[in-house]
Amino acid sequence: MPVIAKGLEGIVANSTRLSDVQGLEGRLIYAGYDISELAGKASYEEVVHLLWHGELPNREQLEALQKELRSRRELPQGIIDFIKSAPKDANPMDVIRTGVSMLGLYDRELLAGQEGDPNYLRALHITAKIGVIAAYFHRARQGKELPPIRTDLNEASHFLYLINGEEPKEEAARTLDVAYVLHADHGMNASTFSARVTIATLSDMYSAITSAIGTLKGPLHGGANEGVIHMLREIGDESNVDAYIENALANKKKIMGIGHRVYKVLDPRAPFLREMAIRLSNEIGEPKWIKMSERIAELMREKKNLNANVDFYSATVYYSLGIPTDLFTPIFAIARTSGWTAHVLEQLEDNRLYRPLTEYVGPAPGKKFVPIDQR
Ligand code: COA
Repeated sequence: MPVIAKGLEGIVANSTRLSDVQGLEGRLIYAGYDISELAGKASYEEVVHLLWHGELPNREQLEALQKELRSRRELPQGIIDFIKSAPKDANPMDVIRTGVSMLGLYDRELLAGQEGDPNYLRALHITAKIGVIAAYFHRARQGKELPPIRTDLNEASHFLYLINGEEPKEEAARTLDVAYVLHADHGMNASTFSARVTIATLSDMYSAITSAIGTLKGPLHGGANEGVIHMLREIGDESNVDAYIENALANKKKIMGIGHRVYKVLDPRAPFLREMAIRLSNEIGEPKWIKMSERIAELMREKKNLNANVDFYSATVYYSLGIPTDLFTPIFAIARTSGWTAHVLEQLEDNRLYRPLTEYVGPAPGKKFVPIDQR
């Protein structure tokens, strides 16, 4: 009898030198660095270098990578036309999924005259452009002009500049940068697995990242951060939290931002986001969001022994920065693109097709074909 690991729980599908999720200890390691060593200290671009090249950059290497990314922000006209013509009520995750897929159409143009590993160049292009696609769509759907690309801002600042049409305050830029660092990679999570499965067929980088974006969108994965804000709005006030949770649990409803397949203790990214959420929600004079969140987390620990995950507090952080709710999951995708592309490059170094089995539980074989008119 085959052993079925539903949801592939506990299955080690490959090895990686990129990141390690230690579920019992509640540790997350990026290429040898504990996440607490990096969050608030390393910039997102330094972490991108760590994931793509295996080590933190020196100043010269960092400047070179920043230049590589910043010089690739401009979108092909065909993608700008698509963004402007997309339905205004489209889900931004659908827009970035389609936009990244469309980048594949311009592959020859994007790589023309450039030297180096074509897949590394593609990783640079996608990482540099995915945030621009999301932000430009956000501008276009409001009927606003698309701000010109700037090359003097880092990735997080540039995204905030594009969505707001003005340079962000330093604190907002720093906060989003830390959030990017915390979201950059996370072992064989569902979207990374999806990217690796796709590239392992020797498909292409754009297809792999398109698969990953589609996978991240779901509420059991990256979509949970948007679900948290919808839930907080539905609860409305701290005094309603206990009844809401009781009712949800009685009806077997999942509480968004709580629980994790691998972490059996607190998600090590959550304390950083919690600290930022407390500070920011007090600063904007709306402490009720964090107060509700704290009570939800407390109740879920007590009642189900489940802890907050990365999405739980990131929702309040993004809300407090004035970011529209439906851009929360795209922000996760923007940051995770560094990890996805790193995994695609790693998969290609020593590739083997992913091909698990299923246990067949259909009708016993031996049925005879009956022509359609006799059925
Ligand atoms: N709210 C309420 N109950 C939860 C829960 C949540 N967020 N997460 C897990 N549980 C409960 C399940 O109901 C189940 O209880 P039971 O054994 O009494 O039936 C048990 O915990 C195991 O849940 P299961 O869904 O099988 O765990 P999983 O490993 O497949 O799921 C998640 C992991 C992340 C999908 C799950 O915790 C979840 O759906 N969380 C909410 C969505 C979310 O925040 N996703 C982002 C993850 S980073």
